[in-house]
Order: sequence, then structure tokens, then C-alpha cells
Amino acid sequence: MRKMLAAVFSGMVQKPALRGLLSSLKFSNDITCDIKKCDLYRLEEGPPTSTVLTRDEALKYYRTMQVIRRMELKADQMYKQKFIRGFCHLCDGQEACCVGLEAGINPTDHIITSYRAHGLCYTRGLSVKSILAELTGRKGGCAKGKGGSMHMYCKNFYGGNGIVGAQVPLGAGVAFACKYLKNGQICLALYGDGAANQGQVFETYNMSALWKLPCIFICENNRYAMGTATDRAAASTDYHKKGFVIPGLRVNGMDILSVREATKFAANHCRSGKGPILMELQTYRYHGHSMSDPGVSYRTREEVQSVRSKSDPIMLLRERMINNNLSNVDELKEIDADVKKEVEEAAQFAATDPEPALEEIADYLYHKNPPFEVRGAHKWLKYTSRS
Ligand SMILES: *[C@@H]1O[C@H](CO)[C@@H](O)[C@H](O)[C@H]1NC(C)=O
Ligand SMILES: *[C@@H]1O[C@H](CO)[C@@H](O)[C@H](O)[C@H]1NC(C)=O
Repeated sequence: MRKMLAAVFSGMVQKPALRGLLSSLKFSNDITCDIKKCDLYRLEEGPPTSTVLTRDEALKYYRTMQVIRRMELKADQMYKQKFIRGFCHLCDGQEACCVGLEAGINPTDHIITSYRAHGLCYTRGLSVKSILAELTGRKGGCAKGKGGSMHMYCKNFYGGNGIVGAQVPLGAGVAFACKYLKNGQICLALYGDGAANQGQVFETYNMSALWKLPCIFICENNRYAMGTATDRAAASTDYHKKGFVIPGLRVNGMDILSVREATKFAANHCRSGKGPILMELQTYRYHGHSMSDPGVSYRTREEVQSVRSKSDPIMLLRERMINNNLSNVDELKEIDADVKKEVEEAAQFAATDPEPALEEIADYLYHKNPPFEVRGAHKWLKYTSRS
């Protein structure tokens, strides 16, 4: 039917117009979805248990999650080929978290996260090309090849932080700035289930609650702190309750709609001046903690396989879309092929773009031009520093 119409109309109607006409015939514009009720802590009411998903949103979320999945698999491959060196932490399996968070806030809001940052770098607006080129340390990387996997930044995104948990107090600082400037913006501070037991995180909860900072603390619980299962590392695994006086939500982090709705709810809470709120996103990482961890010595292959087959975030959205006529197999295949092409081209760029010149080693370290010796880097003094 589609082919026939395309043949009839070719030359008369432009392809996008034809596509729009055809899709309006066979696809729903939006659907209402049920989502799992969140566990609540110190809250009378929580996020809704049903929400509307439009076809446009669904297509966008699907594509974004697929890009992140493919980008991470490509990074794994390029690491094994030694194009990427040093630290590298992949987030495949956790795509519904970054995509759902972004869908629940404004681009003008702020995000800071741990070293497992590639997905958020993409949802915050960096291209796959600039991310992969950063991983390979090339000039075209988003941090000009000087940051690598753990140190990528863009507008309203403060990294990518290497020190476990240290981004949480920094995030409270960003939220403090929002409150001080009265700009109506909020900050999302993300950390893992491992960092959730750290002292500095609790100190930050205290200050933020005391000062009613517009901060959403987000614990991405992927079940393992490096190689230690949560219940072996934490006396309480109720991560959404750890803020003591701070209200909390426990969210299905494998369902993008659950994450989106919980984030909208939490963002409203912060913007209305009620102070911080905590969210635990229950998720899973398919890769090991980092590239030196094959990820199979502390969990079984069966466990990983079972998550993949029962609660993979991309699969769940895909099923929802197909079962409800928001899309069909052919259309999603087209998106997959398009995504594959984008990631391949980005990888090609990341493998061939030149490395930054040695003369530029001191450039862009500071916002304003201070003398280079402030860092005590004496042997590099022959190089100048430019902002
Ligand atoms: C809570 O935060 C305030 C403000 O920084 C500080 O004065 C107080 O000592 C903190 N309390 C604890 C127990 O750390
Ligand atoms: C999807 O479309 C098919 C064919 O047009 C129709 O039979 C089916 O009832 C639709 N399903 C939903 C959930 O709308």
C-alpha cells in the first residue's frame, strides 16, 4: 500500500509530506499509558500512575535511547581496539534514566553527574561525534580532547566528575546559585548506589534541606557499587529514604515514562520552593563497572540475560509503541539503520581526527588567563596558557 502510493505520488508530493499523510492513516497520535506507582517517602501524593505519550515523543525517546545504546557499544569496541584509553564507564542498560530525566526538565535547568556520563552528555545536546572524539582524545572532542570519558561538559552540564560522590555537593552549589539568582531553575545531582553511602552526600542533604535548595538528588541504583551488591555495601538500601527529612521517591528506572513523570513531579516540588527532593531510579548496567571489569564475577550471566529479556528500557518502549500503533516494526527498523549510520560516521571521525597539539596543552584550563604556574606545572612553563 505504502509502495503503491509512493509510486503514484512520486514527483507530485514531497517525501516528508507523503510520510505524514501515510502515518496519519495508520498510526495513533497519542496513547495513555499506565505506569508503576512510585514508593513514596514523606510525601502525601506522588507522580501520576498514568500519562499520555505522543507519537512524536515516543519516536524521539526511542531514537535517543538507541543512539546512546549504540554509542556505548561502539565505545566498548573502540576501547578494545585501543582507540580509547584510560577510564571509561558505560551506561548501556540505563538509557531510560538520562532520557527520562531530560524529558522532565527544561534545557535551562542544570545537571551534574558521576563519571558514568556519556548518556547525559548526549541528552544535554552534545553530538555523538564530539563525544566519541573526546573519548579518543582528539581535537574535535567536546572538551577538545583533553577531558576524556569522565570530563565532558556543555551548557548547563557540569560533567562527568571523577571523584566518587564529589559532584553531589557541587550540585547543591549550583542549586544554591539558582536560588540566589531567583531564576526559577533547578539542579539535578546524580550519583550511584555506591556513592550514596558517603559522608559528603549526607552533609549535602543537611545543608540543602536547611537552606531549601532547588535540588533533585538522584541515586541511579544499578545494583552494584563497582563489584559489590547493594545489600552487601549499604545498611539500608532504601535510597529514596536516606535524605532523612528530605522527601523521596523510588522510581522504575527502566521505564522512560516513569522516570519522566517522577522527574516532572520532583521538578515541580523544587520550583515551588519546598526545597530538595530525592529520587532513587532502579536500573541496571549491562557492562561491568568500568572497562577493566568484565562484569561477571559478582553476578551471574543469567541475571544479566534476564534483565535484558524482561526489562530492557528500549525493548519496553518499543513494545509499547508497536502494541499501541504509535509506530511499526518497519519504521523502527528505519530509525535503527539511521542511528547505526550516525554512530558509524562519528566513530570514523573519532578515529581519524588529529590529536591536539602539544603547544596547546595549557590552553582552556581557566576561564580567564592566569599565569600557568598557578598549577605548579614547572616543566611545562615554556607553554603559554590561553583561555
Ligand atoms: C547542617 O548544615 C548546617 C549549614 O551548613 C551546618 O551549620 C550544620 O552543622 C550541619 N549539621 C550537621 C549535623 O552537619
Ligand atoms: C492498531 O491498528 C490496527 C489496524 O489498523 C487495528 O486493528 C488495531 O485495533 C489497532 N490497535 C490499537 C491498540 O489501536
